Amino acid sequence: MIILGIETSCDETAAAVITDKKEILSNIIHSQDHHEEFGGVVPEIAARAHLKTLQPLVEKALNEAQLDLHQIDAIAATGGPGLIGGVIVGTMFAKGVAASLDIPYVAVNHLAGHALTVRLTDEVEFPYLLLLTSGGHCQFLVVEAPNRYKSLGSTIDDAAGEAFDKVGKMLGFSYPAGPLIEREAEKGDASRFKFPRPLLKGEEHALNFSFSGLKTAVRRQIESFESLSQQDKSDICASFQLAILEIFKAKATRALEHCKDLKIPIRHFVLAGGVAANQVLRTHLEALCREKRVPFVAPPAKLCTDNAAMIAWAGIELLNLGIQTPLDFAPRPRWPLDEGE
Ligand code: KG4
Ligand code: ZN
Repeated sequence: MIILGIETSCDETAAAVITDKKEILSNIIHSQDHHEEFGGVVPEIAARAHLKTLQPLVEKALNEAQLDLHQIDAIAATGGPGLIGGVIVGTMFAKGVAASLDIPYVAVNHLAGHALTVRLTDEVEFPYLLLLTSGGHCQFLVVEAPNRYKSLGSTIDDAAGEAFDKVGKMLGFSYPAGPLIEREAEKGDASRFKFPRPLLKGEEHALNFSFSGLKTAVRRQIESFESLSQQDKSDICASFQLAILEIFKAKATRALEHCKDLKIPIRHFVLAGGVAANQVLRTHLEALCREKRVPFVAPPAKLCTDNAAMIAWAGIELLNLGIQTPLDFAPRPRWPLDEGE
């Protein structure tokens, strides 16, 4: 089966062609750059840019795969959650193609795309424990099937990627700031500032996250300087990143213990979503999993951040279960993963 995948839920317009044999024939991503001057994504600008970019991008993806549209067996597009304007653009395009070629259409939950990518890149069996950490989400899930997820906990305020982006903005970095903070942190002293690690103690929020207090502490620290030297910036990045790493490590330890206590037979610990591109985080969590004797898997960094190969793959997984989406599907700005497909 050859499937065309489309992703338009945030500021990346993406199209990919993949096969059910896990071959990525093309995977094209166009990152919109008009948002930089605003320090974040502007929904209306994003929607208009998707509208302009999507069709030529799909043509490019087909060209690269050396296929024409008639050779596609199915089409999958992100149906939510995300910025509604963009999701509508992708959904309408996919429905139009499906209707005119009379092929199956699948509306994919963007988070399922992130969650299932490891099954495209690696041999990963259900059930697995997933730490999904991106610009909009931060949660632990048990992935039982492509359309069955159990949430164990999530952030009660900001997502981790959002914290990276906001701290980056305070330091004058461009958006998205995650990769820039990671690079800057390499030159910094992580022990210089002791930033808080919220929700590490107590049972009530054992598997939840909170990053807003950490972000505020970084803001206060920045405001306490009259002017910041390059070294100050590097030290703030390193100290901030260390706080995030320690939070993730402590929470992952508890999530693994939780699965053990409840006898949830997880086969892997999977790290996914844009923040999973962070090499230091991967190394830390891999070491933890080695200690706990649970195989650790994370997709290659370029498949952690938003892309359409993950949407196409989730489409294949759902089609393999006999699931397709009727053409009257309404795009969903909110779409929790643990509520079904
Ligand atoms: O999954 P993604 O591409 O989009 C969403 O679904 O949100 O995630 C984007 C997020 C941004 O907040 C970005 O700053 C963060 O992932 N990110 C990183 C790194 N690369 C991307 N955060 C930390 N370190 C990185 N290397
Ligand atoms: Zn994403």
